[in-house]
Amino acid sequence: MDIKIKITDREGVAHEIDAPTDMNMNLMEVVRSYELAPEGTIGICGGMAMCASCQCYVLSDHVLPEKSDDEEAMLSEAFNVQENSRLGCQLHISEDMDGLEVQLAPEEL
Ligand code: FES
Repeated sequence: MDIKIKITDREGVAHEIDAPTDMNMNLMEVVRSYELAPEGTIGICGGMAMCASCQCYVLSDHVLPEKSDDEEAMLSEAFNVQENSRLGCQLHISEDMDGLEVQLAPEEL
């Protein structure tokens, strides 16, 4: 099935998109597939929790899976990290995420 996710891009524009729960996608890949961030600015490590280019802020109060040690470690080194920061590539799209609202963190230069 598809779930709705609201993604605010780095320009501050909100996009209400449909994301499939049955294609084994993560949030970073969804952002890429909708081209909500320019090529080369998101998903740089390919989803290995090693670059933080996919960092986003979770704005809704969804209960998401705990961060793995790898995600924690990467976020502890990244810029612009907030309490609600997550790595999009570590968020696997699931039905529990219906209605999720996230904002892409600024690009790390
Ligand atoms: S794509 Fe590199 S940490 Fe998510």
